[in-house]
Amino acid sequence: MKNILVTGGAGFIGSNFIRMVLTEHPDCLVVNLDKLTYAGNLENLADLVGGGAAGTRGAGRTPVPQVPRVTAHDTPYRFVHGDICDAALVARVIDEHHIDTIVNFAAESHVDRSLTGPKIFIETNVTGTLCLLEAARDRNVDRFLQVSTDEVYGALGPEGQFTEQTLLSPNSPYSASKAAADHLVRAFGHTWGLKYNITRCSNNYGPYQFPEKLIPLMIHNALHDKELPVYGDGMQVRDWLYVYDHCTAIWRVLERAAPGEIYNIGGCNEKANLEVVNIILSRLGKPQSLIRHVKDRPGHDRRYAIDAGKIIRELGWKPSVTFEEGIARTIDWYLAGGKWLANVVSGAYQQYYERMYANR
Ligand SMILES: NC(=O)c1ccc[n+]([C@@H]2O[C@H](COP(=O)([O-])OP(=O)(O)OC[C@H]3O[C@@H](n4cnc5c(N)ncnc54)[C@H](O)[C@@H]3O)[C@@H](O)[C@H]2O)c1
Repeated sequence: MKNILVTGGAGFIGSNFIRMVLTEHPDCLVVNLDKLTYAGNLENLADLVGGGAAGTRGAGRTPVPQVPRVTAHDTPYRFVHGDICDAALVARVIDEHHIDTIVNFAAESHVDRSLTGPKIFIETNVTGTLCLLEAARDRNVDRFLQVSTDEVYGALGPEGQFTEQTLLSPNSPYSASKAAADHLVRAFGHTWGLKYNITRCSNNYGPYQFPEKLIPLMIHNALHDKELPVYGDGMQVRDWLYVYDHCTAIWRVLERAAPGEIYNIGGCNEKANLEVVNIILSRLGKPQSLIRHVKDRPGHDRRYAIDAGKIIRELGWKPSVTFEEGIARTIDWYLAGGKWLANVVSGAYQQYYERMYANR
């Protein structure tokens, strides 16, 4: 039995990971430590925790398809509202719940926001990770898994792929903060023998993604016949992976990887942003005239491509969802889960958090 501390579990990937663990590995206890920033949304997990967290159960929330659910009764899940930079809290959570595994998703994750306000990226992504590492080392946690990103490698030209040996050359404050965290994790392994793994995944998409990111933003705007803002010529290339497959890869690493190993995770799905936008428009039956090319992001990386051969060869993982299938599921989810999206976009869920947690 694993007692897993998942940080950032109210965010997009963290909540999908918790959903997968509670559904497929019910012998595990999951403790979710999340600060509930603008990107943390307990509605992502409302059906797992018996209607308490988000207060939307039975309140007319539209059922959403294609996402496995677990029953609320006796769910081995605890939520702790707090900051990974709070050393005393992190230590208490590890002790109280006999945590043996930490999976660190908590982060400021949006490149655009890192351009306008990089400081919080250093605080959470670097100082926060350091705080978790110190606690993990001092409490002899069995495994520390750092959820990193392919963005730490920088950008590629038209050819080639990132491997685990590629030098880290981050280009944005976001990716620089993630690279710094990766170095710290490795240093704790080297210096104090902390048993760690680092995973570096390409772009994720799927249910519960905050609509500031490309795919949910475009789906939301297209659904409302709003303009679709595409940076520059839209020919920036990314590899796309359905979020569930990222979660199974992380689980595979926890189960099978030797300590100290780093794994790239990707979907072999390179697509230009404009191509992704056109796929969304055509599935929704909306015209291409909705696309509006806007000024490009400064320093925008042109192309990422990831060689995920190591995790495929060594751990026997492979993606299970094709892009065509994944994007169809994602669009269906956003269509059916309109209330979730409406709450997020209107900021109603933020007010809910205020009501629920301001006095705790
Ligand atoms: N989204 C992607 O495509 C992608 C790809 C590869 C790697 N990653 C990495 O995966 C992780 C999760 O990404 P995401 O897209 O789910 O992010 P997200 O922004 O949706 O969620 C981040 C979560 O972390 C929480 N958080 C932020 N600061 C915190 C703090 N100081 N203490 C505790 N909780 C805090 C937020 O409340 C939120 O719930 C990140 O580390 C990111 O770098 C993301």
